[in-house]
Amino acid sequence: MTQLTLAIAKGRLQADALDLLQQVGLTFSSDSFATRRLAVEDQSGSYRLIFVKPADVPVYVEHGIANCGIVGRDVLLESEPDLLQPLALDIGACDIVVAARGEAILNQFGMLRVATKYPRIAAKHFGARGVAVDLIELSGSVELAPVLGLADCIVDLVETGRTLKENGLSIVEVITKITARLVVNRASYQLKAAAVGQLIRSLAEALERRASDD
Ligand code: PRP
Repeated sequence: MTQLTLAIAKGRLQADALDLLQQVGLTFSSDSFATRRLAVEDQSGSYRLIFVKPADVPVYVEHGIANCGIVGRDVLLESEPDLLQPLALDIGACDIVVAARGEAILNQFGMLRVATKYPRIAAKHFGARGVAVDLIELSGSVELAPVLGLADCIVDLVETGRTLKENGLSIVEVITKITARLVVNRASYQLKAAAVGQLIRSLAEALERRASDD
């Protein structure tokens, strides 16, 4: 039997990704998620799930350790991995935005100080507008940067908008809307074609069912 390893982004996407996989027939024993185990098999043995940090999903899939993965498009835009992206999923809807305390203004050197976890996305966005930026790369709690004077604005993910609001920031511009994607290793797409094809088809059918239920 062919087993597929799926890398799942831990955090905001994890519960919705597991729901979707259960809708396509994966079943897990009741204690599978009760522990802090980072790898679990489904009951049929056809799938092994590994739970990794979002930015590491493309790394595992690109190296073929995982055949497929579920990860936000923010991560894919930032790391531009060499992977197939056959399916946009209906989970993890967010915006990538520029946010600031008011109107973000250029400093005396004509540079905009931008704090972000997404330096590539931010550089492309401001580069396309001809705005010179000083990128300050942070790995979390980015909203603090303008509040404490480290940056003029941020480029970050917004889901509910609560974090921005509670830190006195507002959206200046939406860069792009994102959802999660199914990603597939290029070699696995060929070598495990039947199993990968089956997963893609059943996910696509589940998405159609969910869309028609709305
Ligand atoms: C993201 C993002 C914001 C927050 C937005 O961070 O960077 O901080 O979520 O969500 P909201 O609009 O629903 O408030 P995440 O929780 O992924 O963690 P991090 O700060 O550790 O990056």
